[in-house]
Amino acid sequence: MKLMRSSFLVSLFFSLMSVGMAQSQPQLNLMPMPASVQPGAGQFAISQSFSVAVTGFHDAALDREVQRFQTQLSRQTGIPFRPKPGASPALEIHAGHGREAVQKLGEDESYELTITDSAAKLTAPAPLGVLRGLQTFLQLVEITPTGFAVPAVTIKDQPRFAWRGLMFDVSRHFIPVDVLKRNLDGMAAVKMNVMHWHLSDDQGFRAESKVFPKLHEMGSAGQFYTQDEMRDIIAYAHDRGIRVIPEFDMPGHSTAWFVGHPELASAPGPYKLERRGGIFDATMDPTREETYKFLEKFIAEMTRLFPDAYFHIGGDEVNGKQWDSNPKIQAFIHAHGMKNNQDLQAYFNQRLQKIVARNHKLMVGWDEILNPDLPKTIVIQSWRGQDSLAAAAKQGYSGLLSYGYYLDLMWSASRHYAIDPMSDAAATLSPEEKSRILGGESCQWAEWVTPENVDSHIWPRNAVIAERLWSPQNVTDVASMYARMNAVSLDLEWLGLTHRSARMHMLHRMAGPADISALRVLADVVEPVKDYGRGDDTSAPDFDAPLTYMIDAVYPESDTARQFSGLVQTFLQSGAKDPATEAQIRSQLTTWRDNDAKLHPLLEQSSLLQEDEPLSQNLSALGAAGLQALDYLDQSQPAPDAWKSQQLALVEQAKKPGPAGLLLMVAAPVGQLIDGSGGAKSTP
Ligand code: ACM
Repeated sequence: MKLMRSSFLVSLFFSLMSVGMAQSQPQLNLMPMPASVQPGAGQFAISQSFSVAVTGFHDAALDREVQRFQTQLSRQTGIPFRPKPGASPALEIHAGHGREAVQKLGEDESYELTITDSAAKLTAPAPLGVLRGLQTFLQLVEITPTGFAVPAVTIKDQPRFAWRGLMFDVSRHFIPVDVLKRNLDGMAAVKMNVMHWHLSDDQGFRAESKVFPKLHEMGSAGQFYTQDEMRDIIAYAHDRGIRVIPEFDMPGHSTAWFVGHPELASAPGPYKLERRGGIFDATMDPTREETYKFLEKFIAEMTRLFPDAYFHIGGDEVNGKQWDSNPKIQAFIHAHGMKNNQDLQAYFNQRLQKIVARNHKLMVGWDEILNPDLPKTIVIQSWRGQDSLAAAAKQGYSGLLSYGYYLDLMWSASRHYAIDPMSDAAATLSPEEKSRILGGESCQWAEWVTPENVDSHIWPRNAVIAERLWSPQNVTDVASMYARMNAVSLDLEWLGLTHRSARMHMLHRMAGPADISALRVLADVVEPVKDYGRGDDTSAPDFDAPLTYMIDAVYPESDTARQFSGLVQTFLQSGAKDPATEAQIRSQLTTWRDNDAKLHPLLEQSSLLQEDEPLSQNLSALGAAGLQALDYLDQSQPAPDAWKSQQLALVEQAKKPGPAGLLLMVAAPVGQLIDGSGGAKSTP
């Protein structure tokens, strides 16, 4: 199932000469792009007799992987495979040796995939490479005039960075096990290898503790993972070549701990779970020995549960207010010759690091924990900017980049794609310093997601971050990225991800059984407000409120708007003399102009859609204004200044997120058409 058809394919060429592509080859829908791709001649047919043989090393885990691969291939192609006994295998797999019981950072993930018109072979030094190579094979499958096939190709591949993660916040909104699992499948499909599990925050403590059961019993409103469920997720991830790293955020972002254990806090309490986002005052008391006795037992329990070598202690956004207002804590700061709250947090981190180390783990924390008094074994996760990543590397610390990879900020795929762990301040590091940059993690903060729409907040954009972390640094072509991302996005739904299908269900919830084609026209051109524009103040709905509005259903990035903008650029660059492009623009603008008349009755009759009425009216007005601008351009007659300024004012108003928190992404390109229709433009 691939998006592109052959007529489209011939117009797309690899710009990636450095990865060995001949210039006349059509693009392969691979994401992440492999390190080296050498096209061959012909294609290898996927027939009903398709079979797999494993030579060399194999064990139960590899057998399960091969079984999953065959199931997935069958699902993607719809072919129920019936291998012929005794026939030679279609795909031969050879792994050199077995896997460690606990996956290590930097384990060999390389593989070679050779496909000719008569055979396919996947070889890898280690089973992790087999896992990665099988995913590449699945992405290569396409429909052709003679049936499903993979193109002849030789791929030699290995990752650029060893640490390629996705952080799941499950505190703000709880994410059930089945949703995590389908997202782990998605991560494996794009070769990500770390799931960072943000298990505690002000809004919920999501891990069962048998040592301190009040943590999850009182801190989760009943929504937590049992230890069996956590072990199940760890095993599921391990099968897919993904490490699982827990985060228990300390000493801030810790209200949920204090509901059951107020004695850990720096102010007496009582505490209740926060139901909105933001930075809260509740902070652990680093001056009491009882705090460390508690953490000693808790961390011992959790490090027994999570086998990975790394353990994340959070450390972000401590506002210090409870420390400032507690005289005993101030006296402690004084008595120990500390200057301020940062020093106190550094002291806490040193104590914490020793506990983590006694449990044979390496400590990871957000960039606030960077402090020369901590040993060089800790890992800094940079989220406030790229500078802290470079600063950490310069001081001898390993680091991960998450700044620029926050999926909750609703950025475009291209904006995430442009951010490279080795760019910015990191570009000036020495080779040794650079080697301390381990990779990065995308972050799915869960203020505005539910199990229903979380997939669409992650996918397909997460695939381009996965590519940034896997593929060679010079794989940067944005047009190629979008084409491949959209193809891989379709593949991902075969894994059970709902990033595309959920929108349809949610639009029907809002509209009832009515025809939703006009609603889709509107949904196709809007995006949620960016960054933290949705707000976490007390006027925002709390986290128990349903997330069932248009802003919750739409995709973070509008393909329609991006493509329309491309048409407008092409048309204006032609001096408004490109009739074919103009016809496409007209057709689109006409649809928008006429849409409100069709949509209005539907919006009126649904409490969930009424807030979208101004948006729909603005879209119609933009359609009409754009058509008028084209008429002026066609007549080579400059648009009157008064008309132009009136229409540009409309565009500016339409760009603002209204009460629905949605941005009309076609306002800007319509504005460019209006601008282009004015006096200056008409004398080219
Ligand atoms: C963070 O976003 N506070 C790590």
